[in-house]
Amino acid sequence: MSTVNRVITDRYSTVIFSSKSIKEETLLTLFEAARWAPSSFNEQPWRFIVGIKDKNENYQKLLQSLMLANQNWAKFAPVLVLSLAKKNSSVKNRPNRFAQYDTGMAVGNLLAQATSLGLYVHQMGGYDVEKVKGLFDLDDEFEPMAVMAIGYKGDIELFPEELKEREFKKRYRKSLDEILL
Ligand SMILES: Cc1cc2nc3c(=O)[nH]c(=O)nc-3n(C[C@H](O)[C@H](O)[C@H](O)COP(=O)(O)O)c2cc1C
Repeated sequence: MSTVNRVITDRYSTVIFSSKSIKEETLLTLFEAARWAPSSFNEQPWRFIVGIKDKNENYQKLLQSLMLANQNWAKFAPVLVLSLAKKNSSVKNRPNRFAQYDTGMAVGNLLAQATSLGLYVHQMGGYDVEKVKGLFDLDDEFEPMAVMAIGYKGDIELFPEELKEREFKKRYRKSLDEILL
């Protein structure tokens, strides 16, 4: 029986990030992977705002928009990224009902590329959307999707008990029977 590829099985949403920085050329390959995702009418509706700790102000803006429970662990990651979906299609300027679907696929590519490089990505919906729209002066054209914390795994011994517990929590998935209708 064939097995699932390691870029799928090795991925999980860690809460133990190392502060080790990510080389710019390495980081760019994540967005290069995202670029090559398929999309309805090849619209490529995904956009990204990249925050790099101590390098640009996007990082602090994204961090301060997160729910405190997310800030607790995300603040250790060297990179925070917001994904956005462009809501209307460029060609006909009418709502693109696949904008969010396609953006999710681009992020899926990004996750696979990150995992292949030994990087971890933890996505978050727990942030203040209105605050983000204000801080980045986003108009209605873009729907903010998820914030991603990206980095290498840290040394678990340096982290508080609460995060250690979360890190080792059993992961749950529906069975194939439940998802194959
Ligand atoms: C769109 C989205 C939003 C999420 N929001 C949060 C969040 O706000 N905080 C958090 O700790 N994890 C968040 N997660 C992570 C999920 O809880 C996690 O992916 C899920 O429990 C499965 O675990 P795994 O990624 O380790 O396989 C989010 C994931 C996605 C895809």
